[in-house]
Amino acid sequence: MTASIIYEKLGLVNTREMFQKAMEGRYAVPAYNFNNMEQLQAILIGCVQSASPVILQVSGSAREYADAVMMPYMVEGAVAMARNMGSNIPIALHLDHGNTFELAKECIDSGFSSVMIDGSHHSFEDNIRLTAEVVEYAHKKGVTVEGELGVLAGVEDEVSSAVSHYTQPEEVEEFVSKTGADSLAISIGTSHGAHKFKLKPGEEPPSLRFDILEEIEKRLPGYPIVLHGASSVSPEHVAMINQFGGNLESAVGIPAVQLRRAAQSAVCKINIDSDGRLAMTAIIRKIFSEKPSEFDPRKYLGPARTELIELIKAKNEDVLGSAGKA
Ligand code: 13P
Repeated sequence: MTASIIYEKLGLVNTREMFQKAMEGRYAVPAYNFNNMEQLQAILIGCVQSASPVILQVSGSAREYADAVMMPYMVEGAVAMARNMGSNIPIALHLDHGNTFELAKECIDSGFSSVMIDGSHHSFEDNIRLTAEVVEYAHKKGVTVEGELGVLAGVEDEVSSAVSHYTQPEEVEEFVSKTGADSLAISIGTSHGAHKFKLKPGEEPPSLRFDILEEIEKRLPGYPIVLHGASSVSPEHVAMINQFGGNLESAVGIPAVQLRRAAQSAVCKINIDSDGRLAMTAIIRKIFSEKPSEFDPRKYLGPARTELIELIKAKNEDVLGSAGKA
């Protein structure tokens, strides 16, 4: 660690100690994606109210959407809001699915405390090369790095893949030792987005591949594992969206019981984006439908923010086990 750590000026920490505590306490730190003020407020208020550590997570395109220059100032303001609420929860700012060294470097230089470099679409050797390059730069600035092995299916901001490839446990030790990455995202059956499985009526989602996770834990004892694509896709929110003019007929996610099991293992970080999007969309659709003359953004974004706060508190409490751990 060097004397001038940029993210400390924003009131942030990296993920190292968060993951250590999560490993010891057998829970997972939530990583919630955001791109606007209401989401950012909701995430922090939800985590402050449930006394949970939190990773504020931003994809490359979310960063562009909010404006790359403005983003760190938004977060600095949000951290000040949390401190003003009397809370001292640890807060990290993390780049989700960084795909180039340049993007990771820009984020590190502008105040991110953690970055993901996702080389999972490259060959094993190129993934190692790219990840090691980012780690070398990041560690000089006190920033932690998440790598990825295996490919998740689904569509997200920067990533899109029709098929998934499970992580091959025999690759993980070489990857971690050659890159120096601080945590590893793996593919064990989750996927990005709101349509994770194609199920027949009455059919249950398939189980995650806990056998792969266990094999990875054996090979990397005490090493933090990350689960992407972990939204549960609330049937209530989907029903509300469909009731008020939406069309999300086949939306389905990962059952909470499986995520709870993962959170008690070496999985120290669980990524949730779609659930928050669905919660806000459901409320906004309902309000637009029931009050067609409403045109004050506060009157629909405000209730959407309240819904997201409740969702986050429930996740921290019931799924991740991170409530009360800050
Ligand atoms: P979901 O689409 O399941 O919320 O996953 C989000 C994610 O993995 C962000 O990296």
